[in-house]
Amino acid sequence: MSDKFDEVIAELGYYWPSFDIYRGKVEVGGFYDYGMLGVLLKRNIVEKWRRMFILPYIDFTYEVETPMIMPGIVFEASGHVENFTDYLVTCSKCGRKYRADHLIEEELGKRGIKVKTEGLNEEELTSLIRKHGIKCPVCGGELTSVQRFNLLFKTTIGPYSENTGYLRPETAQGMFVNFNRIYRVMGKLPIAVAQIGKVGRNEISPRQGLARLREFSQMEIELFFDPQSSSCPYLGDVEDVELRLLTEEDVAKGVSEPRVVRPGEAAERGYVANEWMAFYMALAVKFLEGLGVPWERQLFMAKLPNERAHYARMVYDQLVKTERFGWLEVSGHAYRGDYDLSRHATYSGQDISAVRRLKEPRIVEEYRVYPNPSRIREVYGEQAPLVLRALAGVNAKELAEELTNRGEAIVNGYRVTRDMVFVKVEQRRINTERFIPHVVEPSFGVDRIIYVTLENAYTTIEGRVVLKLPRDIAPVTVAVLPIVSRDDLAKVARGIRDTLINEGIVAVYDDNGTIGARYAKWDSLGTPLAVTVDTDTLKDNSITVRDRDTRMQVRVGMGELVNVIRELVKGKPINELARERNLPLITRGGRQ
Ligand code: GLY
Repeated sequence: MSDKFDEVIAELGYYWPSFDIYRGKVEVGGFYDYGMLGVLLKRNIVEKWRRMFILPYIDFTYEVETPMIMPGIVFEASGHVENFTDYLVTCSKCGRKYRADHLIEEELGKRGIKVKTEGLNEEELTSLIRKHGIKCPVCGGELTSVQRFNLLFKTTIGPYSENTGYLRPETAQGMFVNFNRIYRVMGKLPIAVAQIGKVGRNEISPRQGLARLREFSQMEIELFFDPQSSSCPYLGDVEDVELRLLTEEDVAKGVSEPRVVRPGEAAERGYVANEWMAFYMALAVKFLEGLGVPWERQLFMAKLPNERAHYARMVYDQLVKTERFGWLEVSGHAYRGDYDLSRHATYSGQDISAVRRLKEPRIVEEYRVYPNPSRIREVYGEQAPLVLRALAGVNAKELAEELTNRGEAIVNGYRVTRDMVFVKVEQRRINTERFIPHVVEPSFGVDRIIYVTLENAYTTIEGRVVLKLPRDIAPVTVAVLPIVSRDDLAKVARGIRDTLINEGIVAVYDDNGTIGARYAKWDSLGTPLAVTVDTDTLKDNSITVRDRDTRMQVRVGMGELVNVIRELVKGKPINELARERNLPLITRGGRQ
């Protein structure tokens, strides 16, 4: 791929580094702006995700939008305040700071030594630095010992400095804290809660363009299910997908050739935790394929226990092979068990649980306290109501045990004897029980997906850039071009542009330059279709539709245009469309 990729992408108006004018004055890495084409591409990719992950599953999928800033207690509960850290090392001479694991890999890489630092702790990283005599790569100074650095962006909420808030590092926590409310609305499990939104991570030294940002967008789903019935009724939707997997065992053994398995088999054999996880992984493969990333450039790699996030019981990273960054993680698939809901239940003091119907009704024993008010009044006089109130809140079973063992019990400071209460054991039939749901989470990084989509689309033909973006996600779908700049042709072309826009198809009008130069320009911007108005149009009301990738054209009647474009956007090859509709097909050499 051309070294000019970033430059070209920025010049075309897709994205570029933020706050560019202040570069050099302040450290501002890890932030990117999207320009007009980038904004449209991002929107289309997000919409495609919605069309694949939410809309077909809307009966159990519920999309939310929750705040980016959340109070400290949420991230104390989630474990991020304690665990969401990377390793930092500082030069004791010049003060420069580095991400320790990256620095070690880079510096040893220069010496031809390959090490894997993922999963190592601060002591292990420090001893690697000492062992290999790694110094500050800029000034040669001695490096400090490695420390943990928390990646949460911290702020205060309102004018109270003690009221700590954090910018969320994942959208997920907004879904967990809403579980009870959504469960009440939906009524039963499984429930998938989806969210698309921005997150922040105060990365130590991001230098990989869109691949490592301090502020980025995620598309996440938390699928809540009953661990006693974890089968996914939608596996059939993805039966045709094959997963390329490196399982935990494979990774531990250093295997590099992935296994190829169907999602059902992956769950059955225990390669992935359950069918839901396999289902979302398979959908993720289809999604990336739909963005133009070939199947064989995709891979799921399991994370070993010491590499996993603190909340996860099993994790697969979906990796895409890129030209510039090697295998790049674009989505993470985690089995989070009941970690998050249990923690939020503890920290909030709320009951966060779901109800399951028992296969067989169960008889449970319940202890009930029946006070003897006249005896209590005799002993406690005017304080009797306080004693009665204390008894109303007592744990009946514990009270019964104390009375049996010791003949008396102390309840809220009052001595209670056997003659004051009667504790009865009653049997009750129950049909349901409460439990904490388990969670499977597919989590997509939008910006990295945009990067891999553009990288896969980026080609050069005869020295000029052609962005072969899939038709349904291209920022501009149609360029409407009069063959030459002439008022009568321009008028018709503008009318076509308006019609297409009214039909919800993004179309632009362009009469600037020769027709060849305009085709080349819109090819490089990723626009898949060009509609050309020529002198024949004025005679017979027909126009040509040109396909960016094959450079073939069909001539269609004006009345057919919208339908033809819709079919092409859905992915129909242009020659097939010509055959089916009996339209003249024009290849580069002339008519066919
Ligand atoms: N929610 C998973 C992640 O942000 O990595």
